[in-house]
Amino acid sequence: MSSFFLTTAIDFVNSRPHLGTAYEKITADVIARYHRLKGDDTWFLMGNDEHSQNVFRRAQEQGKAPLAYCDEMEQVFREVWRGLDISFNDFIRTTDQKRHFPGVQTLVQACLDNGDVYEGTYEGPYCVSCEEFKPEKDLVDGLCPIHKTKPEWIKERNWFFRLSKYQRPLLAYYEEHPSFIEPEVRRNEVLRLVEDGLVDLSISRAGQSWGIPLPNDPQSVVYVWFDALTNYASAVGYGWDDEQFARRWPANLHIVGKDITRFHCVIWPALLMSAGLPLPGQVFGHGWVFFKGERMSKTMGNIVDPLDAAKRFGPDPLRLYLTKEVVYGADGDFTWERFEEKYNADLANNLGNLVNRVAAMTERYRQGRLVAGGGGSLATLAADSASAYRRAMDGLALHEGVAAAYRLISAANEYIAETQPWSLARDPAHADRLSGVLHDAAEAVRIAAVLLLPVMPSSAAEILRRMGETTAPGDLRFDTATAWRASGERGILNAGALWPRLEDKGAITVSETTPGTPSPSSASSAAPAPSAASAPSASAPAGTTPHPVAPAALEQIAIDDFMKVQLKVARILEASNVPKSKKLVQLKVDVGEAEPRTILAGIAESYQPEQLVGRTIVVVANLKPAKLMGIESNGMVLAASPEGGGALLLNAEPAVPGTRVR
Ligand code: MSP
Repeated sequence: MSSFFLTTAIDFVNSRPHLGTAYEKITADVIARYHRLKGDDTWFLMGNDEHSQNVFRRAQEQGKAPLAYCDEMEQVFREVWRGLDISFNDFIRTTDQKRHFPGVQTLVQACLDNGDVYEGTYEGPYCVSCEEFKPEKDLVDGLCPIHKTKPEWIKERNWFFRLSKYQRPLLAYYEEHPSFIEPEVRRNEVLRLVEDGLVDLSISRAGQSWGIPLPNDPQSVVYVWFDALTNYASAVGYGWDDEQFARRWPANLHIVGKDITRFHCVIWPALLMSAGLPLPGQVFGHGWVFFKGERMSKTMGNIVDPLDAAKRFGPDPLRLYLTKEVVYGADGDFTWERFEEKYNADLANNLGNLVNRVAAMTERYRQGRLVAGGGGSLATLAADSASAYRRAMDGLALHEGVAAAYRLISAANEYIAETQPWSLARDPAHADRLSGVLHDAAEAVRIAAVLLLPVMPSSAAEILRRMGETTAPGDLRFDTATAWRASGERGILNAGALWPRLEDKGAITVSETTPGTPSPSSASSAAPAPSAASAPSASAPAGTTPHPVAPAALEQIAIDDFMKVQLKVARILEASNVPKSKKLVQLKVDVGEAEPRTILAGIAESYQPEQLVGRTIVVVANLKPAKLMGIESNGMVLAASPEGGGALLLNAEPAVPGTRVR
């Protein structure tokens, strides 16, 4: 069994975690859970960075002793991490006198013993928010480029670390270990920085009491970044438990934000080199998550509290959004509208609907029990998805890993649409085929759920339970759990919707019909324009001239009236002419329900039945059934009727059947 030790940055505790800080912990947690799934002996470390001046000042503002303030903040952070299902194995605080103090003091001593620490005077700007000495050349109009605040000017006797001595050794190390810094853009940044030359680093602050005393000068405290970086080693025994340290160190992976990658790729390895300690395997600098394109900050008043989403939907939809929608290593954006849109598309309509359909059909046609059979195209696709997933996750392309799982989910949805179990169920001669189809669909869902376990731990576990998995999620191992099961019997549980659709909030945008024409249904509840009801008139396909009707000529309705009409995306599964009717076509459509519906549409003069199969359209899903030519129609197909006759179906590609249209 191989071991895997990963860490996140430790957080400053001057404010509570926001979505950005949570993003880092969520993605690191996905990686940790993936390694556990592979069977690695995984150790996941997180913690709080408490010896910062900002923390000290915040405590003072609140009239609290700094340590008491940090104790309170520890509970705040732990509550958020619990709410997001973050499965760290250890949580270190830099005020931990038993573990962290000896770790830091041992490292300072090791650098002193190696002749790398000397006394000098520092004079220059210092940004308290960065906790960083800022060379004047790095300031923009005299301000810190990150915080846009004027740095403090300090002049004090300090202890310096000979960082400059490590320029060559660091460059040689990067060269010999090309994957030490990832992704490539960060590696290039760091290379440029080190090639430009390194200046020695002040590692102490004089006249302060909030910090760890230097072993050789107890009147000074250790500079907060030296203190903080050491957490990775002190937490696993450095300076206080040699046996544990030898067992766990070095860390395989440090996950940190792009703003602090340089501390981890320059200062930290140089300190370790000086102390003669092994270097970590990799530093991965992830991007930043913005809110509506803006950096989240208290002053901007745009802090997103991750617990808001977790309390409303559970942690998994947020975990999925952040892992799937943000390219790991690049910056990403979050808006509530987009989050709800993805919730409806990826969870309610796609995965949730698939689980429900498989369970409902198994209950209806096979009393909830499946025997093995089938094993056709889906089995091959499941194997391909699992290996693509593994490749992606091993390379920290988390978004691609999730995409591989979703390829399997979409394929399973399509497989059901193609094989039409409801038709097979009508003919006893197809009984074996039906059993095979249901088994294969359930097996694909089961494997997709295994792939999603690291991302959505509780939802995936629930899906596995419904798909008859008897091994506890924590005991599943990647290779065996993703192998296609061609034998055995299983009970499938039909237990209701996992993610109810969000009908009352946000917008689901169905794609444009044709380039250059407006989307037929992008009206959101945030902008409930009365013209929403007249949207179809603005969506005539290319080649026809739209005939906008002057708004004054229309009777206006309230948004509530419009919302009574349930417009949904549907896929046409079958189409045939209705005998003795020139206008009607009989359609069988998939509206995202357990069984398809029959709908009659007056479009026979515009389309041949064979042109219709496979199209994704929009239907009115809550129209009272009506009998036409002796056939019951359950809904109405939306089509534009240009002057001069004919009918043009509204195209809803590529939305998933069942998606609500507004
Ligand atoms: N205490 C230091 C880290 C010391 S590690 C030895 C620190 N703390 S922090 O609280 O400011 O940030 C913690 C982590 O959250 C950092 O990796 C930082 O990059 C990350 N993020 C803070 N805001 C973020 C976003 N908006 N988006 C993504 N990550 C962000 O730096």
